[in-house]
Amino acid sequence: MTAFSKRVAQLPTYPMAELPAIKRRLIEQGVDLIDVGAGDADFAPPDIAVKALTRALQDPAMSRYAFQLGLPAFRESAAAYMQRRFGVSVDPFKELHPILGSKEGIAHLATAVLDPGDVAIVPVPGYAVYHGGTVLADGEPYLVTLTPRTDFLLELDEIPRDVLKRAKLIYLNYPNNPTAAIAPRDYLERTIAACREYDVLLAYDNPYCEVTFDGYVAPSIFEIPGAMDVAVEFHSLSKSFCMTGWRLGWAVGRPDRIAALARVKNYIDTGAFLAVQSAGAEVLKQAERLAAGYVAQFKERRDAILPVLRANGFEVETPRATLYLWVPLPEGLASAAFQKRALEDVGVITLPGSAFGAGAEGFFRIALTVATPRLLEAAERLGKVLAAV
Ligand SMILES: Cc1ncc(COP(=O)(O)O)c(C=O)c1O
Repeated sequence: MTAFSKRVAQLPTYPMAELPAIKRRLIEQGVDLIDVGAGDADFAPPDIAVKALTRALQDPAMSRYAFQLGLPAFRESAAAYMQRRFGVSVDPFKELHPILGSKEGIAHLATAVLDPGDVAIVPVPGYAVYHGGTVLADGEPYLVTLTPRTDFLLELDEIPRDVLKRAKLIYLNYPNNPTAAIAPRDYLERTIAACREYDVLLAYDNPYCEVTFDGYVAPSIFEIPGAMDVAVEFHSLSKSFCMTGWRLGWAVGRPDRIAALARVKNYIDTGAFLAVQSAGAEVLKQAERLAAGYVAQFKERRDAILPVLRANGFEVETPRATLYLWVPLPEGLASAAFQKRALEDVGVITLPGSAFGAGAEGFFRIALTVATPRLLEAAERLGKVLAAV
């Protein structure tokens, strides 16, 4: 019999692990399924990405190992974007590192900084990799529930001092998945100050920084003075440019932290496909313009579905960022039960709060990932489920 590690047993069930199989079964049964579960929009990637990738594929050099250096042009393009967009100046070779989507970098940062038993502060609801990455690094996750009381902001001064003293890492993500919360600058300032006081490394996960609406512009954590001393930031091409499957992002941080991440990655991956990095370099040269095109379409979807959801009994707020609606359920209605009814009775895939951990009960997530008519249809169908429970 094969024995598995304790670490594997401790991993929570991955939120959407079974969904692809369930989806396939339902489609085979002829169900007219609407999938607003995963944060994976149906838009085509930018034309220039496809063209640059096609070009790169003709060059045999692009088929070689990327190693951790990767494509210098990608590093330079990402650094130029950080400067242009946030006014943040970083050395593309020492303070920035290509990663295989932000998921991979986030997971491996924990391996680079945690010793067994070190505490990592993990928001719930939150991206599953904060918890999983901590467990895989033999760290101890300390879960903190994000609630409407604090506008879904994780307030470090509400965490017991003895936990803060043992903490080595904290994960934050604003604009936030799944709550769509955004972080005011004064919040980021006091968080940086607390991280400095308690000597906690802030893993600032920023894949939605371009997906903002109504005049809101999301910052880089490095716009906050002193952040370079205490933070590593993760960026991704997945959401801003609808390139989820391309697996490309970058991490930014102090040279010693970037070097530690690269040291771990040396033993795990050999770099993102160079041809993809070459396409990424081209996309980032025009990042703001390309993202704006997608954001306009997400906004159109958001503005179309909100009134229909409200007319169907859902008291949902208007998000100022991300491709998510974090929809409260009536008191006492379990999110998993609602999701099951939505899936089996009306063929709509949503993500229940409970998939993000017990602290996220009472909500479900809708992703603005399908065309407006289908979103409206989903809202009507979900309304029927709500009326029936
Ligand atoms: C908050 C957050 N961080 C990171 C990721 C990972 O993105 P990727 O690995 O595709 O860059 C996601 C994807 O859903 C996310 O929601």
